[in-house]
Amino acid sequence: MMGTFWFLLIIGIRPILSLTEADLKRSLLSSAVYDPSVRPRINASHAVHVQLDVQVVYIIGLTERDSSFAQACNIFVSWRDEYLTWNTSDYGDLDSFVVQPSVVWTPDVSVYGRMEINQRIELGQVRVNSDGMVNTKFLGILATHCAMDSEFFPFDYQLCTFIIGSEIYFTSEVAMEIKSLRQLESCKNNPNWNLVHVRKNPKPPFWQVQYCFQRRSLYLAVLYMVPTFMHAVLILISYIVPSEAGEKISFGVSLFLSFMVFLLQLNGDLPEMSTAVPALEIFFMLHMTSGVVSLVVSAISAYITHNNSQQTVSVNKVKDVSTAATNEKRRFPNVRQRFRDTSFLNRAGFVVSLSLILAANFIMFNAKLKSSGCTQ
Ligand SMILES: *[C@@H]1O[C@H](CO)[C@@H](O)[C@H](O)[C@H]1NC(C)=O
Ligand SMILES: *[C@@H]1O[C@H](CO)[C@@H](O)[C@H](O)[C@H]1NC(C)=O
Repeated sequence: MMGTFWFLLIIGIRPILSLTEADLKRSLLSSAVYDPSVRPRINASHAVHVQLDVQVVYIIGLTERDSSFAQACNIFVSWRDEYLTWNTSDYGDLDSFVVQPSVVWTPDVSVYGRMEINQRIELGQVRVNSDGMVNTKFLGILATHCAMDSEFFPFDYQLCTFIIGSEIYFTSEVAMEIKSLRQLESCKNNPNWNLVHVRKNPKPPFWQVQYCFQRRSLYLAVLYMVPTFMHAVLILISYIVPSEAGEKISFGVSLFLSFMVFLLQLNGDLPEMSTAVPALEIFFMLHMTSGVVSLVVSAISAYITHNNSQQTVSVNKVKDVSTAATNEKRRFPNVRQRFRDTSFLNRAGFVVSLSLILAANFIMFNAKLKSSGCTQ
């Protein structure tokens, strides 16, 4: 009799005793007890400490034209909500639950310099733990402004920074801190940029995150500098072609044209910026100038050769058979003179072209040497 009574009593009480997640949410988050716009501190003079853990997942790229830097990243955000605590044994050992971020108070984590109207990052679903710790995260693509300097292109380093902090709250209300900052292995996969380092600096009331990138220049070096070197060799060889051979000018012109075609291809790879002239562009311009010098020298020596031979012909016509002997004597100094003129011109042109090519290579070498890391 007594046993049956206790049995019925336990059966009857059980549903009342074991409270569910729904009960917990109702008791913690009902509008009568919880206001998501209120900072979760019982003592209003205490600040909410928000911890950020930033993970750089991969680098999408840097775009010179719109000075932007895009990355995929995870920002884990956690803080303590003093109003969201419960005794787990009252709720069948329920240790945590998940709610929409709009239901609870969330800090306004803002990334200043974002290429979007909304600087605040969108937080995902929120997990609330029984001790009041609240965890959430931002997973997605972050595009931020990055001022780039292309002076040493293609051996340049770029420093991109952004600032993270609360937009609305004072530090005395919400204190944000970047607890950890790491780059995942997949960051190394960008074909054009090598992430040298990521750093965090406290800049009260904000935190600054710095990314230092090094351009991978292999592609540009192989695609452009090797053919340019060959072109330079051909320009220097064009001085050896005798000016009597009429092909000299057309050889120079075809060299010039082939270089122009080559430059057209380059257009897409050069940074579209007017703030600095990239080293690679100066390199090409100097090579082109050396080609032009070779063309001009060819043209002038062709002119001299032609003029001189005409003079000799006219001299031949006027002073006829009667002065054949003296004519023979005059012709030789003329030929010698002509030879001396064009060869001097050729030599001077060769030296100018060679020094232009050397200067171009020096500029590239200098860019490579000077650009040795990110400058603040
Ligand atoms: C709030 O915290 C401050 C500093 O910790 C303390 O001085 C103050 O007495 C607290 N106020 C209340 C109402 O507990
Ligand atoms: C939780 O509740 C159980 C029983 O209801 C009690 O024994 C325990 O002390 C409580 N724990 C806390 C931290 O209040």
